[in-house]
Amino acid sequence: MVSIRLAVKADYPVIATLTREAFEAEEEVALVETLRNGNDILAELVAENDGAVLGHVIFCRGEVKTENAESYPVALLGIVSVAKAHQREGIGKALIETGLALMKARGEGVVFVVGHADYYPRFGFDAELADRWSCRWAGPHFMAVPLAIGAEDWPQGEVRFPDPFYLFD
Ligand SMILES: CC(C)(COP(=O)(O)OP(=O)(O)OC[C@H]1O[C@@H](n2cnc3c(N)ncnc32)[C@H](O)[C@@H]1OP(=O)(O)O)[C@@H](O)C(=O)NCCC(=O)NCCS
Repeated sequence: MVSIRLAVKADYPVIATLTREAFEAEEEVALVETLRNGNDILAELVAENDGAVLGHVIFCRGEVKTENAESYPVALLGIVSVAKAHQREGIGKALIETGLALMKARGEGVVFVVGHADYYPRFGFDAELADRWSCRWAGPHFMAVPLAIGAEDWPQGEVRFPDPFYLFD
């Protein structure tokens, strides 16, 4: 049975391998490492089955920059990967739902993501809600899920991801 737990250092090599395989690219592997080195990570979780790490998700710290240049922290779903041979088995769902529950338990009011417009709405992510904020990736792929009452009243402005994400432009 698949279980979800916090990632530890010993998982890093296998996380790199499965990220490389899921995205078929090196950029996302480097992104994960840069986020770790930059202290941008709020939570890093892995999905494990019989001792094998099959999936990985990172939630990271972003900010809302207001018109007055004030900054408010927000949570972001950074990157999620599932081993190719185990996709569509519910591992992504388990990682994301566990991560969102953790964010909620830690008092986060809203989580943003930039990703597949057909995948994230099943977890409550909503492009219409995210539309209240600006973002470099505004549009159908930019979504927000409310975790607390009044999430839509969170300070308005630009949602900024950690700097390494902007290398993907
Ligand atoms: C996207 C990803 C994390 C989903 O994880 P998963 O464990 O395969 O997904 P789940 O088993 O939880 O959910 C399966 C469902 O997601 C859908 N799905 C998977 N990838 C999708 C995508 N790229 N776009 C839309 N839907 C997708 C499947 O069609 C399936 O739908 P169904 O339940 O209606 O049949 C995984 O496929 C993956 O690692 N992909 C490559 C890396 C990637 O794109 N990461 C996300 C970046 S935003």
